[in-house]
Amino acid sequence: MGEYLFTTDRLGLRRFRAADAEDFAEILTDEEVSYFEPYDTFAKEDALLEAEKLNGDERFYAVILKETGKLIGKIYFEDKKFFGAYEIGYSFNRKFWGHGYALEAVRGVMDNAFASGVRRIIAEADVRNTRSLKLLERAGMRKEGVYLKSAYFQKDENGEPIWSDYAAYAILNEEWNGSVPG
Ligand SMILES: CC(C)(COP(=O)(O)OP(=O)(O)OC[C@H]1O[C@@H](n2cnc3c(N)ncnc32)[C@H](O)[C@@H]1OP(=O)(O)O)[C@@H](O)C(=O)NCCC(=O)NCCS
Repeated sequence: MGEYLFTTDRLGLRRFRAADAEDFAEILTDEEVSYFEPYDTFAKEDALLEAEKLNGDERFYAVILKETGKLIGKIYFEDKKFFGAYEIGYSFNRKFWGHGYALEAVRGVMDNAFASGVRRIIAEADVRNTRSLKLLERAGMRKEGVYLKSAYFQKDENGEPIWSDYAAYAILNEEWNGSVPG
């Protein structure tokens, strides 16, 4: 285990470090990755500073491909301070999409969290973000509803917000552990 907080088959999860700057910048500077994220695509010089900002931050996991040591993704996992709910989020390097790495990391975080007594995990995704919705469903999360026109990340040619509908998902500890009939 060593440098990792925990591992899955192919991945190791640990806190961010300043030395992750180059790998993390590949993710942050990609317009396609940030399209549905609540931040703009980073310029390279700003992106290189971000790993240091997240250094040791307990809300984030750096996701490392064990075989090569490369950082390929970020998982956000935060205590919402609301009746024991935690929120999960993720963004991965586009070169590593389509291999089940994000799903494996999300399941690893859930497994760990539920084993340590977390009660409920929530997630939200733009309804147009099909890759993200598929991931949430594959991870066993339940759709709880859709928030209509709840946020915007782009504006139209007149500078008007293009409003996004957001799907809300959740999973309870007892669902993960199989005591609630699915
Ligand atoms: C959301 C995101 C993390 C999903 O990445 P992803 O690689 O598609 O997700 P998964 O890890 O679930 O991989 C699933 C794909 O890998 C394939 N796959 C290949 N090998 C696999 C394996 N061993 N296990 C599971 N799936 C595997 C699956 O068939 C699936 O392909 P499909 O989507 O064509 O059906 C990624 O698109 C991303 O970073 N997006 C930008 C950031 C973002 O929008 N974040 C969410 C905001 S709410």
